[in-house]
Amino acid sequence: MSRKKIVAGNWKMNKTPSEAENLVRELIPMVEGADVDVVVCVPFTDICAVSALTKGTNIAVGAQNMHFEESGAYTGEISADMLLELGVKYVVLGHSERRQYFAETCETVNKKAKVALAKGLVPIVCCGESLAERELGVTAELVRSQVKKAFAGISAQDAAKVVIAYEPIWAIGTGKTATAQQANEVCAVIRGVIAELYGQETADVIRIQYGGSMNESNAAELMGQSDIDGGLIGGASLKAGSFAQIVKYKG
Ligand code: 13P
Repeated sequence: MSRKKIVAGNWKMNKTPSEAENLVRELIPMVEGADVDVVVCVPFTDICAVSALTKGTNIAVGAQNMHFEESGAYTGEISADMLLELGVKYVVLGHSERRQYFAETCETVNKKAKVALAKGLVPIVCCGESLAERELGVTAELVRSQVKKAFAGISAQDAAKVVIAYEPIWAIGTGKTATAQQANEVCAVIRGVIAELYGQETADVIRIQYGGSMNESNAAELMGQSDIDGGLIGGASLKAGSFAQIVKYKG
């Protein structure tokens, strides 16, 4: 079973358009010819510049959120069509920071995922437990419920296109990476839910990333696990050199 790995940078609220251009200019030659899918999920205001620069390269552009309505009176929001016209291919949905600070819920993630798929964007659906939840021993239960809710009403054909990112909240930006075994264990649980919902065939093709303090030193071990098909990288994606090393983790 061969799932192509996918390494995506999530820049979060970092980089002005000119800073984004500088980073991407540096990154393009460094990741050329990589055997993984390479994505940069950039702030909305950087999309135009990054799309123009990456045209014809192996770097795809992602957004970090979108609204589920087509258009209308939703001040401050961005629609799928707006992203598509700028060449965006991926959209991160349900990141824990959006759940924590911006009232994102499993229901809105589900609505957004359905619209993204209908429009031809690839959703990167995030899930993951807090430290308190891990300590309570409810990680598997919580992640299963997040995944089930995110995929409600999505067909098997569409589900296979989705990328799932398992990001334990306690490992995000903390320098505390889940051990490769801990990360793989939960990614296997997620693949199990997909198998229950859609059958083994879909579970075998869907790609599951790990995210949370992934860097150039731990990427190879994490991505070497049986159920980890890539990474969603925060801090280490903000420097071309470290992100490129993760992309080329095989050395
Ligand atoms: P860090 O890599 O900075 O821990 O962030 C992970 C993350 O949240 C990616 O979406």
